[in-house]
Amino acid sequence: MGLLDKHGVIEKNASLLLIGSFLVVTIGGIVEIVPLFYLESTIEKVEGMRPYTPLELKGREIYIREGCYNCHSQMIRPMRDEVERYGHYSLAAESMYDHPFQWGSKRTGPDLARVGGRYSDAWHVDHLTDPQSVVPESVMPKYGFLSDTRIEGEFIEDSLKANAMVGVPYTSEMIELAQADFKAQADPNSDYDGLVERYPGAKVSNYDMKPGITEMDALISYLQVLGTMVDFSTFQPLASR
Ligand code: HEC
Repeated sequence: MGLLDKHGVIEKNASLLLIGSFLVVTIGGIVEIVPLFYLESTIEKVEGMRPYTPLELKGREIYIREGCYNCHSQMIRPMRDEVERYGHYSLAAESMYDHPFQWGSKRTGPDLARVGGRYSDAWHVDHLTDPQSVVPESVMPKYGFLSDTRIEGEFIEDSLKANAMVGVPYTSEMIELAQADFKAQADPNSDYDGLVERYPGAKVSNYDMKPGITEMDALISYLQVLGTMVDFSTFQPLASR
């Protein structure tokens, strides 16, 4: 009886085939999953990554609420055309504090993973308010209403707590001072030293130049930090160190 004939026995018996398939898939699964528990880390640690400030976190919530991810990805693939257009390819560590991540799968508009610092705050206000005034052929909707909604950050402490619960390293100090930090970041006249100490590199600005804090301020603070935490002039991938 040849090997193929023996295999015929399995193929002709549905129960045997089912048990056989189950065993094969189980072994395959274990081989893929078990190493993940023994690897020191599945995400390479990268210098510069910090949790979002309360204002940036609020901006992220607005980004998700408005469905920006339907037209924008946040993941630069390691291919030449992408790297030349958008900058260094995205690292896993760069989205390790994103719950949920915003990699996206659709690019009606450009990738936003490194849009931070590329434009001025005023450009973002103009563009979000009326994209066609800046890029005439744009199909992006208008988001001017975000400037009309004042926010105080009264629930931002809870957002930090929820993120801390799923592993973002917000300290109890950060959570306690969440609302104060939220307000300080949108007001260049505030005492923001503590904020910058807790969140190195945090940018303080009255983003939309309107009195009070608006959803526009929060969203732009988020856009301006995207892709800016890791310094790629000094970054070296683990493999080449
Ligand atoms: C219907 C699809 C669509 C949606 C939804 C959308 N955008 Fe856009 N976006 C575009 C297109 C197309 C462009 C390119 C033309 C332009 O700059 O307006 C663009 C450009 C941009 C740019 C400039 C990027 C660059 O590198 O030049 C930013 C920033 C941006 N969008 C942010 C947002 C944000 C924030 C939201 C959600 C509030 C959003 N977009 C929602 C389609 C969209």
